[in-house]
Amino acid sequence: MQCLVFRRLVCHLSTFQLIWFLAPLILCRAQVVTQDVRGLLNTPASLRCSLKNPQEVLIVTWQKIKAVSPENMITYSENHGVVVQPAYKDKINITQLGLMNSTITFWNTTLEDEACYKCLFNTFGSGKISGIACLTLFVQPTVFLHYKLSEDHLNITCSANARPAPMISWKVFGSGIENSTEIVSHPNGTTSVTSILQIKDPKTQVGKDVICQVLHLGTVTDYRETVNKGKRGFLWSHLWTHTCKVVNALQSLLAS
Ligand SMILES: *[C@@H]1O[C@H](CO)[C@@H](O)[C@H](O)[C@H]1NC(C)=O
Ligand SMILES: *[C@@H]1O[C@H](CO)[C@@H](O)[C@H](O)[C@H]1NC(C)=O
Ligand SMILES: *[C@@H]1O[C@H](CO)[C@@H](O)[C@H](O)[C@H]1NC(C)=O
Ligand SMILES: *[C@@H]1O[C@H](CO)[C@@H](O)[C@H](O)[C@H]1NC(C)=O
Ligand SMILES: *[C@@H]1O[C@H](CO)[C@@H](O)[C@H](O)[C@H]1NC(C)=O
Ligand SMILES: *[C@@H]1O[C@H](CO)[C@@H](O)[C@H](O)[C@H]1NC(C)=O
Repeated sequence: MQCLVFRRLVCHLSTFQLIWFLAPLILCRAQVVTQDVRGLLNTPASLRCSLKNPQEVLIVTWQKIKAVSPENMITYSENHGVVVQPAYKDKINITQLGLMNSTITFWNTTLEDEACYKCLFNTFGSGKISGIACLTLFVQPTVFLHYKLSEDHLNITCSANARPAPMISWKVFGSGIENSTEIVSHPNGTTSVTSILQIKDPKTQVGKDVICQVLHLGTVTDYRETVNKGKRGFLWSHLWTHTCKVVNALQSLLAS
């Protein structure tokens, strides 16, 4: 009721007066509590809408927001229960049945489900009250790190596939190092980022750790590779790890 009154008043107001009426208008819009969701692609995901203040709700409608016009997906009312549009029959359901709180669940998200959704509460007296919740989908990174060592060349390749696109950076010490990055988008919605580190003087890197850092959704993960000169180098690095373990064990024995 209040919202409608405010909307009608606004039409007869000057810009200056409008400012005073803006605050309550924003409050009217915030009558529905929603939360945007980031979900794993090809797994279930749920979106929820809640009415802040008690209202007499006749029907709850969920719509997918599209460029041209919103598309009805599913409704819930006491008289008709859950009614799903044919296009969404096996894709979604209302998993929290209520006229004040409503939750829809996608059984198995696909790329087309990444969108914003509107929940409409058709009320008796206050008209339509709505909220918007957006769903974004991600895929965890798959990372490959390997190197190719020849007499006068060392190439280290780090490749990460994820959604949204990951970022790659290197932690390496030394000079004469160049890197190049290639980015490829795939039809499955993921992006592969491949970075090649070219080291002109490989001898300086033998026995040292090279770290490929993958940044995805605010998390940095380190992938570490020790450059070894053939099998012997590999053995040496393992021997060193063992020696360190023995020394550590001895130290803790002495300390106790
Ligand atoms: C979800 O969809 C993907 C892709 O179509 C499929 O590979 C996967 O098995 C499905 N998961 C479930 C639980 O149905
Ligand atoms: C959807 O949810 C309603 C209410 O819980 C239930 O009656 C109905 O069987 C469900 N439909 C499907 C296809 O799971
Ligand atoms: C709706 O959800 C809120 C918060 O989770 C809860 O406090 C309230 O009791 C629920 N109302 C109804 C009618 O289910
Ligand atoms: C290293 O990468 C460069 C450029 O991608 C390539 O030209 C060169 O052949 C590579 N060297 C080795 C040893 O793989
Ligand atoms: C890789 O290349 C970028 C851009 O050319 C540069 O800023 C960065 O320092 C390079 N990283 C390494 C480890 O050489
Ligand atoms: C997406 O496609 C790329 C390229 O075909 C593939 O490497 C990657 O594993 C795929 N990812 C998923 C989650 O299917």
